[in-house]
Amino acid sequence: MRSQIAAGNWKMNTNIDFGQDFVAKLEDKELPKDVEVIIGAPFISISPLKQIAKRIKIAAQNCHDEESGAFTGEVSAAMLKSTGCNYVIIGHSERRQYFNESDELILKKILKALEHELKIIFCCGEPLEIRENNDHESFVQSQLENSICKLSKEELENVVIAYEPIWAIGTGKTASPGQAQDMHQHIRKVMRNNFNEDLAENISILYGGSVKPSNAKEIFAQKDVDGGLVGGASLKIDSFFDIIQSF
Ligand code: PGA
Repeated sequence: MRSQIAAGNWKMNTNIDFGQDFVAKLEDKELPKDVEVIIGAPFISISPLKQIAKRIKIAAQNCHDEESGAFTGEVSAAMLKSTGCNYVIIGHSERRQYFNESDELILKKILKALEHELKIIFCCGEPLEIRENNDHESFVQSQLENSICKLSKEELENVVIAYEPIWAIGTGKTASPGQAQDMHQHIRKVMRNNFNEDLAENISILYGGSVKPSNAKEIFAQKDVDGGLVGGASLKIDSFFDIIQSF
């Protein structure tokens, strides 16, 4: 069964005090029972947030693809697991763009994180020029086929897909509910063709890119949209709580 998910991505924002206050206040609110709430926190906040999170799951925003070793400044999947971290976001467009992460590297990171029993939020999505050339479906298909389609069906039980058109991230420009639905339907088709109907129907697909309280309801109401990966609007408790209630 597909779960409904509201995931925040704090990116390189917030500190430990802010995060602990935020999570404590969100835990005190009446969160809808059938919605999984996740916060993608900076590495240093994960352990302190795990100490107070009960209902809320915590995600890291990256991990290294190697087990351990001489990689100064990096954080391994095993280290994340030791904090009690639940998820790791892998393949975000900012990491692809600013840190040159390729599909191959992203697949290695996913495999390493799964080995350590972390769940994955796998991001995909096209830049503006690809959308304008009407190549967005084949672009996203190749991101999927070069990475998560190489996993086993069992491994995919621990993967959530987030479709995030790059032109909609942090720009205030959202994909229309119809554009989101069309791509989510296409992603399910790719999963069906590479695996089977069951898997395609059961994998959760989140939309990301300027999700806010004013558009979340309409986007989440689309048949193939199972929730959102939310950047800017997850930094304010009231707007994130509104989004959580938008299913
Ligand atoms: P945004 O970011 O909601 O601020 O557009 C979404 C994301 O990058 O995950």
